Amino acid sequence: MKTIIEPFKIKSVEPIRFTTKEERIQLIKNAGYNPFMLHADDVLIDLLTDSGTSAMSSKQWAGIMDGDESYAGSKSFYRFEAAVKKITDLNFIIPTHQGRAAEKILFSIVGGKGKFIPNNTHFDTTRANVEFTGAEAVDLLNETGKHPEIRADFKGNMDVKKLEEFINKVGKENIPLCMITVTNNSGGGQPVSMQNIKDVKAVCSKYNIPLFLDACRFAENAYFIKKREPGYSNKSVLEIAQEMFSYSDGATMSAKKDALVNIGGFLALNDADIAQQCRNLLIVTEGFPTYGGLAGRDLEAVAQGLEEVLDEHYLQYRIRSIEYLGEKLVASGIPIIEPPGGHAIYLDAKRFLPNIPPENFPGQSIVCELYIEGGIRAVEIGSVMFGKYDNDGKLIPPPMELVRLAIPRRVYTQSHIDYVFEILLEVFKKRNSLKGYKIVYEAPMLRHFTAQFEPMG
Ligand code: F0G
Repeated sequence: MKTIIEPFKIKSVEPIRFTTKEERIQLIKNAGYNPFMLHADDVLIDLLTDSGTSAMSSKQWAGIMDGDESYAGSKSFYRFEAAVKKITDLNFIIPTHQGRAAEKILFSIVGGKGKFIPNNTHFDTTRANVEFTGAEAVDLLNETGKHPEIRADFKGNMDVKKLEEFINKVGKENIPLCMITVTNNSGGGQPVSMQNIKDVKAVCSKYNIPLFLDACRFAENAYFIKKREPGYSNKSVLEIAQEMFSYSDGATMSAKKDALVNIGGFLALNDADIAQQCRNLLIVTEGFPTYGGLAGRDLEAVAQGLEEVLDEHYLQYRIRSIEYLGEKLVASGIPIIEPPGGHAIYLDAKRFLPNIPPENFPGQSIVCELYIEGGIRAVEIGSVMFGKYDNDGKLIPPPMELVRLAIPRRVYTQSHIDYVFEILLEVFKKRNSLKGYKIVYEAPMLRHFTAQFEPMG
């Protein structure tokens, strides 16, 4: 088998800035040991997120010049709408400035106190937008998905049995919709099988509950189905994506992921009445329904990106570049969620640093050390991001303590990834000397963005 190469050549480059280890020790301290607070210019390889960090193609940049900035009825909107409909076949396509704006609008209409939203795993903004309305966000991930060390093909699947039990427990009238996140970002970027989507749909239909996809990484999910699920190897990724959406009644999408753009999103749905209410709210919060918080040029770039992301050479390279890093880590005994997901490597901080308890944030410790050692920025997805407190102020940790190394699309080459591996190995070798952290400031919601830390001892 030959090397799977980057299926593009580089036309425009952006220099990255080197710093010394001494500088980085000071810089991370000044940032309150929270990499979100670093200046990006002080980061060498930025794996904080794959969101909005894609490199756009020459055709997307050409689309930027070609964007129609008409306030109403822009031709770029119609190109965007056609591109989304081609994949989703949903009736009403509502552009938003990013994914969470679509979530905010949707849940403002269907959420509220006494309501419940089941999902395989809510992403943090999705959870926050559900809870902000007073509704409850419930994660019903299958058991395999909760065990980083178990290798399975579709660890993002929802537990269908639990879903039905849950519906019977709280009452179908209190569940305005059910969601599936593809791929399951908070659970390791793990894919959801077509069979699972179908099974969830069957339960939803039985109780008359609409099914929505959180579709940020739909193309990566579709590619995993093609590679792993019997019966799909001869289908195109577009056909697979179309089938995924055929079981849905709506979708929220952050175009900042699989539409290969730096900003954008949409809400798509079939229910005319809810769509009307969403559009009314859109006008108040985002903008007129044919631009919804975006410039015409952004809509062009999304439309083009939605075509490019379904190119199978691109997806082969994309999935392989994450798997490549994963293989090196596993071979060196570094614990990760296995198999690697579609957009990121997730280190298993519990097994990486067994001596640091969740109360002292093992993931945060790794994240700080990766920066100090190699100027790499990653993000903790564990007790900092999802931890809650009980009535006595004691931490209730989430099931997993993870560190995410998200790989931006079409941005870094294999040598960047090799360097990331070398730094990870350095940090792993000195894991016994790493310290835990304590929080000295936190915001009431989404605290991980702005929390300040101090090292223990
Ligand atoms: N849903 C999922 C599964 C996501 O991963 C994200 C964003 C959103 C919704 C919200 O979209 O950022 O456009 O408002 N995830 C980014 C990340 C931030 O780093 O994983 P947004």
